[in-house]
Amino acid sequence: MKVAVLGAAGGIGQALALLLKTQLPAGSDLALYDIAPVTPGVAVDLSHIPTAVNIKGFSGEDAKPALEGADIVLISAGVARKPGMDRSDLFNINAGIVKNLIEQVATTCPKACIGIITNPVNTTVAIAAEVLKKAGVYDKNKLFGITTLDIIRSNTFVAELLNVAPTSIEVPVIGGHSGVTILPLLSQVPGANFSAETIEKLTSRIQNAGTEVVEAKAGGGSATLSMGQAAARFCLSLISAMQGNQNVIECTYVEGEGEFARFFAQPVKLGKNGVEARLPIGDLSPFEEKALHGMLDVLKADITLGENFINN
Ligand SMILES: NC(=O)c1ccc[n+]([C@@H]2O[C@H](COP(=O)([O-])OP(=O)(O)OC[C@H]3O[C@@H](n4cnc5c(N)ncnc54)[C@H](O)[C@@H]3O)[C@@H](O)[C@H]2O)c1
Repeated sequence: MKVAVLGAAGGIGQALALLLKTQLPAGSDLALYDIAPVTPGVAVDLSHIPTAVNIKGFSGEDAKPALEGADIVLISAGVARKPGMDRSDLFNINAGIVKNLIEQVATTCPKACIGIITNPVNTTVAIAAEVLKKAGVYDKNKLFGITTLDIIRSNTFVAELLNVAPTSIEVPVIGGHSGVTILPLLSQVPGANFSAETIEKLTSRIQNAGTEVVEAKAGGGSATLSMGQAAARFCLSLISAMQGNQNVIECTYVEGEGEFARFFAQPVKLGKNGVEARLPIGDLSPFEEKALHGMLDVLKADITLGENFINN
């Protein structure tokens, strides 16, 4: 199994690389790529950790040497938010970076599963899909927007409120990955019977948790360490399913049947070739129904922006 991390010298990339170096199955290969010249050094640094994971670092304009033979490509290359910016402010810079990297994926490892971390995820995933389609190699079961950070944040905040072990909670989060498009399904948490007021506050906290970090870092970046953990969890789940484990389920932003929008975060069963089945979102409370229908115009506009970036 070979995993390539693109954007590997960044805040997320380095945290993710550390977690993968220590947690990938023995015998795996880990390739780190970033335009930053420090990247081979990040790999040398990590190579001193005694695990059976082979690691190599690449820098410069060409991502292809890192991508050769990759089974999974994780992309966190781009710029992160500063206070006062929302995720859509990142569009102009990050759209071009994702386009360029996906073009290289399409020619070098077209069968790889791709996980997009670079924001705005609602839009960058649509960009990636259109680039792959143009190259004739798009497989909608192998392209994922990584929304796992919304899930682990929800798990943490809900566990705090319920005063239970954080690892005992698993909140499904559907929709997209920005503001109102993030919809935690708090009504589906076993044992939770929150008041309407708590649900409203908690939903809003989960939707704005990224801003909590951006403001607390005071201009020094956005979530990196928790995002590294979230991406590592997603990648390890995917590997486990690719290696034959049954019943690996994650919420992730994928192209589905289009019931709500072309791309939609929902629970999916992972398997040997990426998405094995898109699972139903289950019963929603009236609050969640309203929030779901209220978000769709925003989500669809985000998706169209990405499609038009490639096709117009
Ligand atoms: N999906 C999520 O939940 C989530 C959460 C937090 C942040 N993010 C996003 O992840 C991205 C990275 O965040 P970060 O905090 O690691 O930023 P960062 O600035 O610390 O790192 C980004 C890295 O990308 C590299 N890079 C830029 N252009 C590149 C290119 N063309 N090819 C290869 N590498 C390139 C930079 O050199 C840098 O090392 C941002 O877009 C951020 O908004 C997503």
